[in-house]
Amino acid sequence: MAAPVDMGPCNCDRMKPATHIIQRSTGITDDAHPLTTPIFETTTFVFDSADQVKEHAEGRSHKYLYSRYANPTVAAVEQKIAALEKAESALVLSSGQGATATALLALTQSGDEIVCSAAIYGGTLHLLSDLLPRFGLSARFVSLAELARPESIIGERTKLVWFESPINPTLRCVDVAAVAAACRARGVISVIDNTFASPINQQPIELGVDLVMHSATKYLNGHSDVTAGVLAGPARLLDPILKARKLLGTVLDPYAAYALGRGLKTLAVRMDRHNTNAAAVARWLAADPRVKTVYYPGLETHPDHAIARKQMRGFGGMICVDVGGGYAGAARFFDRLTVFNRAASLGGVESLCSLPVLTSQWGHSDAELAAAGVTQSMARLSVGLEDADDLIADLDQALGS
Ligand SMILES: Cc1ncc(COP(=O)(O)O)c(C=O)c1O
Repeated sequence: MAAPVDMGPCNCDRMKPATHIIQRSTGITDDAHPLTTPIFETTTFVFDSADQVKEHAEGRSHKYLYSRYANPTVAAVEQKIAALEKAESALVLSSGQGATATALLALTQSGDEIVCSAAIYGGTLHLLSDLLPRFGLSARFVSLAELARPESIIGERTKLVWFESPINPTLRCVDVAAVAAACRARGVISVIDNTFASPINQQPIELGVDLVMHSATKYLNGHSDVTAGVLAGPARLLDPILKARKLLGTVLDPYAAYALGRGLKTLAVRMDRHNTNAAAVARWLAADPRVKTVYYPGLETHPDHAIARKQMRGFGGMICVDVGGGYAGAARFFDRLTVFNRAASLGGVESLCSLPVLTSQWGHSDAELAAAGVTQSMARLSVGLEDADDLIADLDQALGS
């Protein structure tokens, strides 16, 4: 028979009901070894004595104190992600933007320059160009041609280089190892946003990058029901980021961490299907004369196919399609879809379509759009896990007259 749950010391006879129902056991017992990660949905952890708290405060114990600092459910998912990215350590944060902002604030100081690819997720661009300059950080945006000669992009004040590959939404790819090597040679921190690839398809730390960031809202969770961010890398970089996360309060909630950990269990099988579905859809689109251009790194016609082949194991589930006819052409195609959902975000089991000029690149000037390689007639497809034949049939009718 299972041992009874230890109810802890309780002077039940003397307690009034209101005290009794609040102070009784939490059910925590050494005799229960759950298969799945328990959700430690608690803001704080109980100590036995002042000595125990002092021991913790002086860094002499690893007990948990307060969930904004650390929480076992959050720690469990961080360990999984560190292993996935082959990193010494990982942190999960409240969103992808929370991860980006926390990393940048932790690793730079007033007067530093951040070099960033001009073709980048819109939120990153706005954070770097609109918000962080108020705190004395300057951002310099570089073209893909400049990123292809990475030694030339690093200046005297450059502290950190931030880039994506494949890039949202154009799927252009950057030579990750070349950028990482140029940064290392100059003592500059390299950070890649690996959201579009996922760690199954691309492992930047093996390619020499210092820090990997993800919007875990996308493939890592995979079910479009959690907003989260990830940073993975060496402890020397993650230690200051952890301190900043404690101060900024950008940690992930334990319930969301639990859901992220559950989603992660199927990441490898989901990515396998995303890769094959998107390859089938991309090949079909590329053969259709009604489509102006298809951007998918797995296509031989993609401008960065050789780079993608060198550094990716699979080419992912994202496709960008230029249907021609300006914004009206893209809007017409978008409005006619019936299987693809008209929604922002990406990386979930359901196929989605978004128009970059209305979502990820909303608010960009014409010059910023041109630098990002984004046109008015582009539609971005997040190819989900449905049957590829149904997805192709939907695209076929949406492109029709
Ligand atoms: C490539 C990329 N990076 C970062 C983000 C920001 O992530 P989140 O929405 O989780 O804050 C997004 C969101 O779309 C993204 O696509």
